Amino acid sequence: MIVEQFGVEDWMDRYEEGARYNITDTCARPLTLNELFSLTGEDKKDFMESFFQREQTYGPIWGDKALKQEIAGLYEHIRPEQILTEHGATGGNQHIFFSLIRPGDRVIAFAPSYQQFYSAPRSLGAQVTVLHLKKERGYLPDLEELRSAAKAGVRMICLNNPNNPTGSLIPRDMMEEIVHIAEEAGAYLFCDEVYAGAAQTKKDRCPSVADLYEKGIATGSMSKSFSLAGLRLGWLATRSEKALAQFRRVRDYDLVSCGLFDEAVAALALRHKEKLLERNRAIVRHNLPLLEEWVEKEKHASFVKPKAGTMALVYYDFDMPSALFCHRMYYETGAFTVPGDCFEEPFSFRVGYGHDPETLVKGLEAVSAFFHILEKE
Ligand SMILES: Cc1ncc(COP(=O)(O)O)c(C=O)c1O
Repeated sequence: MIVEQFGVEDWMDRYEEGARYNITDTCARPLTLNELFSLTGEDKKDFMESFFQREQTYGPIWGDKALKQEIAGLYEHIRPEQILTEHGATGGNQHIFFSLIRPGDRVIAFAPSYQQFYSAPRSLGAQVTVLHLKKERGYLPDLEELRSAAKAGVRMICLNNPNNPTGSLIPRDMMEEIVHIAEEAGAYLFCDEVYAGAAQTKKDRCPSVADLYEKGIATGSMSKSFSLAGLRLGWLATRSEKALAQFRRVRDYDLVSCGLFDEAVAALALRHKEKLLERNRAIVRHNLPLLEEWVEKEKHASFVKPKAGTMALVYYDFDMPSALFCHRMYYETGAFTVPGDCFEEPFSFRVGYGHDPETLVKGLEAVSAFFHILEKE
């Protein structure tokens, strides 16, 4: 098996630790456990005392029941038994590809997006068609292009909604069209929905593919919209009994079960899902205008204003490859961003605006300082 380097993760691994101004992270500002307990009003002592009395078994193999009840509450038509907990959404995504993709299968994915959606199926021997999400279309899929790519037969269509790195949001009517295309092709429709709910308002949300389509498979996570990446807790949800049976079979080989502590904290957090989401919406509502103002006044920068999520892709007008641009900027002014080439989108870099506003403002000033350096060269 040949596994392609995961561009964005490799970049984060190399530069994130020690970054002066990290303005590229995509998690909504992470919570400490103290903050989680104070935000939710739950009793820390009670929680710890009852957890400390639990035998450290594997726990329920397919995921904690109370947790799955809460996760099901994020969907309209999903029952707890149609959910499997996973080691993050990354683990859930990989689990889906390993379970359903066979050598020679046709898969359609999009770029710019999270590389896992095309590199992982490719590593399994699938023939992957990568359709380009164009800036001029607000990074939304071209449905005619998708329809024609699906005509030759397709096993799975892969989406990310809201999208990393562009912050685009496929609206409901377009998603229903995509479901129709998948249905006609008899394809699975997989959608990584880790940024669902992290948006400017509560209404900026599309229904899950798991609710819209029998063969829809959604992944979610505690990492992004719920600010608890340290739990390493994600899930998948689908109404397809056939897919679920295959997921259970494959999962025994590489996961068995998720951590009891991670699941218990996630269940507690999701009992207060609206509080967590509202906290994070307030953060991105405050920070996005800071980014927008900077782009408006910075003559070397441009972007398509994101519709949802926690990030945006910002373009620069210098003739320099994005990896070199980001590498030099990191060392010369301290601004840490991920190059657009990690997402197949040259002359751009990713800005995350879900963290603290001071770092965002200082980081953007450091980007401007780098533009000045380049102007003089
Ligand atoms: C689209 C997408 N899916 C999954 C992940 C990772 O999620 P998790 O921390 O749940 O593994 C990321 C992280 O950047 C992401 O952008």
